[in-house]
Amino acid sequence: MKINTDTIIVDPHPLLRVKSEDVPLPLSKEDYDLAMSLLTYVRESRDPIKAEQEKLKPAVGIAAPQIGINKKIFAVSVDMLDDKDEVETIEYLLVNPKLIAHSKRECALSSGEGCLSIEEIYEGLVYRHERVTFKAFDVLKNQEVVIKESDYIGIVLQHEYDHLLGVLFYDRINKTDPWKEKDNATLID
Ligand code: CO
Repeated sequence: MKINTDTIIVDPHPLLRVKSEDVPLPLSKEDYDLAMSLLTYVRESRDPIKAEQEKLKPAVGIAAPQIGINKKIFAVSVDMLDDKDEVETIEYLLVNPKLIAHSKRECALSSGEGCLSIEEIYEGLVYRHERVTFKAFDVLKNQEVVIKESDYIGIVLQHEYDHLLGVLFYDRINKTDPWKEKDNATLID
């Protein structure tokens, strides 16, 4: 399956609002292929030449509901700079993720969030947990994992996890005061 801008559904498509179903493990070939095509999309979307040729909008994550399949699978691929200023790509390909713990403290991206499935611009801070712990089956490791992440990657994981619950990022923006800052939250540039 090849995912591109033509196969990604956009808000207000009703399937973006459905709660996704658990995926049976071990993965069927169909579900494995679906997972891999999600990861391939995020990887290739950040290659400017491929993105242009294959109609891919740049992304750091995508979830199965965004192609109209309400199964609990999402892919994340993020390029981060390590201590030595070298690019390190952090990737997760998660099946049946569950948020099992989180900090009380929150964080938000200072310029707000975007989404492949949302064409309208929604401005405002999207508050999320600063630190999160997920339990999931990671297809890249072929095993059950417990993931602890924070800040930017934590935000990406929570954004994709929300898709599995039928939640979109703008649901979390304060309607009356979109840029309202909170005392117990960190803003990330
Ligand atoms: Co999204």
